[in-house]
Amino acid sequence: MMKLSSVTLLLSASLVFVSNTYAAEVDTAKLAVQDELPDSKLLSEYPKAPGWDQLPEGELGEKVVRGYQYFVDTQKLAPKFNGNDLNCVNCHMDGGKKENAAPLWAAYMSYPAYRSKNNKINDFQERIQGCFLFSMNGTPPPTDDDVLVDLSAYAYWLAQGTLTGKDFDVADMPVPSDAELLKGGKRDDFPFTQAYLDNGGSTEPELPGRGYPKLEQPELIPDIARGKTVFEQECSVCHGENGQGQQVNDHYVFPPLWGPETYNWGAGMHRVNTAANFIKHNMPLGMPGKLTDQQAWDVATYLNSHDRPQDPRNQGDIQATRDTFHQHKNVEIFYGKEVDGKVLGSESYPNHPRKPE
Ligand code: HEC
Ligand code: HEC
Repeated sequence: MMKLSSVTLLLSASLVFVSNTYAAEVDTAKLAVQDELPDSKLLSEYPKAPGWDQLPEGELGEKVVRGYQYFVDTQKLAPKFNGNDLNCVNCHMDGGKKENAAPLWAAYMSYPAYRSKNNKINDFQERIQGCFLFSMNGTPPPTDDDVLVDLSAYAYWLAQGTLTGKDFDVADMPVPSDAELLKGGKRDDFPFTQAYLDNGGSTEPELPGRGYPKLEQPELIPDIARGKTVFEQECSVCHGENGQGQQVNDHYVFPPLWGPETYNWGAGMHRVNTAANFIKHNMPLGMPGKLTDQQAWDVATYLNSHDRPQDPRNQGDIQATRDTFHQHKNVEIFYGKEVDGKVLGSESYPNHPRKPE
C-alpha cells in the first residue's frame, strides 16, 4: 500500500467507484496533466456527451440508467454473461464518454457496419455481443436480450446528446422501439433530433475521438524487455507488479492486464497495435500522452506476451486457430508464439462458463 501513496489523488478518484456507481467514471479530464492530446486536438475540440441532468423520462430513461450500470459494473450485474473481472468502462473510459477511448457516442453512430472479424454486417447489438465474448471472456447475452437493449439505449442517448450539443433538449429526443435501439445509428431512417438537423448537422456525422487513434509504426521493433521496464516504472503501481490488478472490498479498482481474469486471446486488446493505441491515449490513468510512442508499443508488447484466457474460437489446435483468426497485416500477435520456452495459448485459462475443476 505504501507505494500507492504517490498516486493518492488517482486512487481516491477510483475509490469513488466502489462507493457510488454514479460517480464511477474517473474524471480523467480533470486529472489530465496536459490538455493537448497526441493527435494534437485540444480537449475542447472533441464533442461532449450529455450529463445526467438530461436524462430522458419514463421507460427510456430507465433503460439508459440500467445500461449505464451494466457498463460500469458489468462483473457484479451481468455475471451470467461476464467471464472475467473487467467492466466495459475499463477500456471505454469515463462511462463510455471519453474521446480516444472508443466512446459509445461515436460507436453508436458507426453501426450497422461490416466487420472482417466475423465477415458480415454487424448491428450495434452484435458489436456489443463481440465485446462480451472476447473482451469480457464471457457468454454474450442472447440476441434482443434486455441487457443489450439497455446498453444500446445508453449509447443511443449519449450519441443523440453528443451530436446535438448545447441545443440538446431531451424532451425532443425521439423514443425508438427496442428493435430500433439495437440496430445503431448508421442507418437511413435514424431519427436525428430536430435541433441537430436545424443546426446543419449531417445525416452521416463524423465524430472525432472514435476508437483509439492509430500510432505510427514504431522506430524500433517493439521489445518485451524494454516494455517490462516501462511497466515497472509507469504501470505496476496501479495494476500490480504481477499485472493482476488490485481489489478493494472484493471489487477491482485497478483491472488485471493478463492472467485468468482479463480479456482473452480473441479480444481486440490482445493485438499489440490496438493495446499500444489505447495505452498511448489513456494510460497511465489521467496522463494520456505521457508515454512516447515507442514506450506505448513496448509496454503493449510486454502485456500481450503473457498468457490469458483461451481464444473461444479455438477448436484445440493453436496453430490452426492462429492461421485462421490471427493473420493481420503488420500486427504483432503473440498467440501461438513461443515466449520463454512456452507456446502462448497452449495452456491458456478457461473461457466462460468455467467448467468445474
Ligand atoms: C494511476 C493508476 C494507473 C496507472 C499508473 C496505470 N493504469 Fe491502466 N488502468 C487504470 C484504471 C483505473 C483502469 C480502468 C479505467 C476505468 O475503469 O476508467 C485502467 C485500465 C487499463 C487497461 C484496460 C483494462 C485492462 O485491464 O486491460 C489497460 C490495458 C491498461 N490500463 C494498461 C496500463 C499500462 C500499460 C499502464 C502503464 C503505462 C497503466 N495502465 C498505468 C489505472 C492505472
Ligand atoms: C479489454 C478491453 C475492453 C472491454 C472490457 C470492453 N471492450 Fe468494447 N472494445 C474494445 C476494443 C479494443 C474495441 C475496438 C476499438 C477500436 O479498434 O478502435 C472495442 C469496441 C467496442 C465497440 C465498438 C466501438 C466502435 O467505435 O466501433 C463497442 C460498442 C463496444 N466495444 C462495447 C463494449 C461493451 C458494451 C463492453 C462491456 C460489455 C465492452 N465493450 C468491453 C475493448 C474492450
